[in-house]
Amino acid sequence: MEFKSDTDTEVLVQLVEYIMVKKNLPLVEAVQVALHQVIGAYAIAIIDKRDPRQIIAARKQSPLVVGIGKDEFFLGSDASPIIDYTDKVVYLEDGNIAVIRLDEGLKVISILGKEQELKVKTVDIDLGQIEKGGYEHFMLKEIFEQPECLMNCMRGRINVEGNHVTLSAMIDYRQQLLGAKRIVIVACGTSWHAGLIAGQLFESLCRIPCEVEYASEFRYRNPVVTKDDVVIAISQSGETADTLAAIQLAKEQGAFIFGICNAIGSSIPRATNTGTYIHVGPEIGVASTKAFTGQVTVLSMLALCLAAERKTISEDLYKQMVKELTQIPDKMEQALKTNEQIEHLAPIFTYAKNCLYLGRGYNYPLALEGALKLKEISYIHAEGYPAAEMKHGPIALIDSEMPVFVIATRDRLYEKVISNIQEVRARGGRVTALVTEGDTQIQKFADHVITLPDTPECFQPLIASIPLQLLAYHIAVCKGKDVDRPRNLAKSVTVE
Ligand code: F6R
Repeated sequence: MEFKSDTDTEVLVQLVEYIMVKKNLPLVEAVQVALHQVIGAYAIAIIDKRDPRQIIAARKQSPLVVGIGKDEFFLGSDASPIIDYTDKVVYLEDGNIAVIRLDEGLKVISILGKEQELKVKTVDIDLGQIEKGGYEHFMLKEIFEQPECLMNCMRGRINVEGNHVTLSAMIDYRQQLLGAKRIVIVACGTSWHAGLIAGQLFESLCRIPCEVEYASEFRYRNPVVTKDDVVIAISQSGETADTLAAIQLAKEQGAFIFGICNAIGSSIPRATNTGTYIHVGPEIGVASTKAFTGQVTVLSMLALCLAAERKTISEDLYKQMVKELTQIPDKMEQALKTNEQIEHLAPIFTYAKNCLYLGRGYNYPLALEGALKLKEISYIHAEGYPAAEMKHGPIALIDSEMPVFVIATRDRLYEKVISNIQEVRARGGRVTALVTEGDTQIQKFADHVITLPDTPECFQPLIASIPLQLLAYHIAVCKGKDVDRPRNLAKSVTVE
């Protein structure tokens, strides 16, 4: 057979056609035969123009959802574009084929042609959740809805008195979770940053050793995983190919897998032993905002549950921490009031070619997250760095052209961060500092100060993420960028 294209999708169509003609097979059987020869992940839909009343769809390691309407069907990689038309969907299982005929309806078969049970699910997504609701961009809407999202995330999990957390996974899989000798977190991008915060929580509150890994590295580096490990996979979309592969690897080595996802019914929750949804509603903006704070909230609840059960924190501290968590949505509302100030500041930074984000402790992952938000939507190069590591190299970059954003909220490392700010100032760096209300020291050294409500340091990233998201948003808008659809990025990274 002669290749007529070097695009994989086009090659596949040619292969199906070739098999149909050569073996005189109907389309569905030709697809089965062709897919036996295909290596790698795919989600495909094929129509033969000679028989347009039929669609054959198939998936392997890439998501595919079939929506069932009245005399019509829909295909998508997740349910959100479909729910405008129907709430009845079938999540196609890996390796299965959907045969859709307008006259006969939907049938699902295995790649060997065996008919499969049709598992129709009703999706519960409110259409209003995927509209902009008066905001200029989904990203801005999603930033502003975080207080409500976090209330939804905690609802039914934290009691009305606000002093106790119950996670159903903790009840159903108590033994497996409490038996963890080690926690390994696997995730990508923003979800990995949430994981870095959680890693500190699991170690400091629960005294469980915790490693936080990029799923894309973990899956290829032959890691040591044992049946005493609990592997936590974090993913907004629940479809990230590398995270799914990391889960698979950990499962094969006998680890217990806990998923933290947003998209209901997506592949990762289906591949894990148990987990907790973050329940922040569909996230449409490509840059993740509310999913990040939802993930950190669920991970905080999980850490508090484990710490209470393992008695690694006192009961009083546990209750106090749970209470503090319930107050986060109100404090986020306060943090959102910085929007106007940040909108005014944003034009100053649009000239920048490079920006530096500094933080320590729980705020270090947040520095990474702030930098990622700026990079992905404004295309300004940005680096997140642990503030004390500056002197080991990056300080050489500092000059008056380099905006430096420092998360300098009041915590154990506050005084040290002040010294780091002074080091930056001494080299002519322009500092914008995120500080705790009542702070009077930092304004002496910083060019701009953004004030945030006080909260225990482990929850500070939940509050301080708001101005960083707003900063990235307003800078990108000032630069005229397409905030909701940044170039080269996809919302679900279903390829490795
Ligand atoms: C950044 C962002 C990405 C995702 C990453 C993982 O704003 O959205 O870095 O966090 O692609 O995606 P999920 O969480 O869907 O696995």
